[in-house]
Amino acid sequence: MTFSLHLSVLLWSLSFSTAQWCYQGQYSCNETCRAPSDWFTLFPKCGGDRQSPINIVTSKVQRDSALTALSFQGYHDTHNVTVENMGHSAHFALPPSVRISGGGLPDTYKAVQFHLHWGTDAGPGSEHTLDGERFPMELHIVHIKERYGSLEEAENDTSGIALLAFFFEESAEDNVYFNVVETALESVRYNGNSSSVAKLRLSDIIPATQELHGYYRYAGSMTTPGCDQAVVWTVFQRTIPVSRKQLVSVSRELVFWTGKPMADIFRPTQRLNGRSVLWSGAGPFLPSPLALWLCALAVSGGHWNRH
Ligand SMILES: *[C@@H]1O[C@H](CO)[C@@H](O)[C@H](O)[C@H]1NC(C)=O
Ligand SMILES: *[C@@H]1O[C@H](CO)[C@@H](O)[C@H](O)[C@H]1NC(C)=O
Ligand SMILES: *[C@@H]1O[C@H](CO)[C@@H](O)[C@H](O)[C@H]1NC(C)=O
Ligand SMILES: *[C@@H]1O[C@H](CO)[C@@H](O)[C@H](O)[C@H]1NC(C)=O
Ligand SMILES: [Zn+2]
Repeated sequence: MTFSLHLSVLLWSLSFSTAQWCYQGQYSCNETCRAPSDWFTLFPKCGGDRQSPINIVTSKVQRDSALTALSFQGYHDTHNVTVENMGHSAHFALPPSVRISGGGLPDTYKAVQFHLHWGTDAGPGSEHTLDGERFPMELHIVHIKERYGSLEEAENDTSGIALLAFFFEESAEDNVYFNVVETALESVRYNGNSSSVAKLRLSDIIPATQELHGYYRYAGSMTTPGCDQAVVWTVFQRTIPVSRKQLVSVSRELVFWTGKPMADIFRPTQRLNGRSVLWSGAGPFLPSPLALWLCALAVSGGHWNRH
């Protein structure tokens, strides 16, 4: 009796030892896991001075002309990918033929996986904030320098990992391209569940690459433990539309390793500690319909004046 009680307590604590950190929303005082403010007690790097995410203050960013457009390879190809519930989020594994370079990155990087951070229903859920605004969801596409064989190896290099971040913004219409992600998440409800997704194309999910000239760049960390300070962050200005219905559905589909609904999976913003946030500038001038119309009016006006 006593033995079996001890055994079940032992097994219970073992089941928690694989992932001893949790998000704030998941935490309650009777929980044994560590909330974000205490991650550093188990994972010392989470207490470092170059942590992510951050709040981006647009009036303080430094424009840098070296931040040209990124080059995307394999983003337009279809891939069969595996999605897995990792207990704290769901990862979509990506093949190394998906690559990025340019855009002021120090190297060519190959993709490893992508995942999302979200809130509760359609509430605030992004990790980075822009002038204090938290978007409903954020996409992270994780890449490592081509020479490395694993994320663990890349974590040893201060610029070993390149993370692309996209904010989602609520739209009136469903984003039909997002359905493939939504459906995939439905199939991996529990910790450890995995499923395959056929014909996934990243370019269908993110905005058109010619609209990605505007972005913020800073040096930071992974936003989950061990919080390695090995990340070159690229946070794009252009957002991805997604309907309220889709946001609600995503935040209700999965459960954490603790069995609670997987919601509010974002880390609080971290101190800048003197780091600068660079900005690419808005990119090449794209004439709006109104500007074209005004231009046409000015030209025709000038024409008439000459008569
Ligand atoms: C913590 O307490 C809440 C309610 O107070 C309960 O629902 C939950 O199951 C408890 N969690 C653990 C791990 O005991
Ligand atoms: C992807 O999976 C489909 C079946 O689900 C298969 O027909 C196709 O050959 C696969 N493509 C690749 C590139 O593996
Ligand atoms: C990271 O660097 C340390 C110290 O240089 C080394 O001992 C360790 O093996 C490296 N880890 C990986 C995964 O490369
Ligand atoms: C998902 O995980 C649960 C809990 O571990 C398990 O019972 C279930 O069979 C899994 N489902 C699939 C489709 O793997
Ligand atoms: Zn992330």
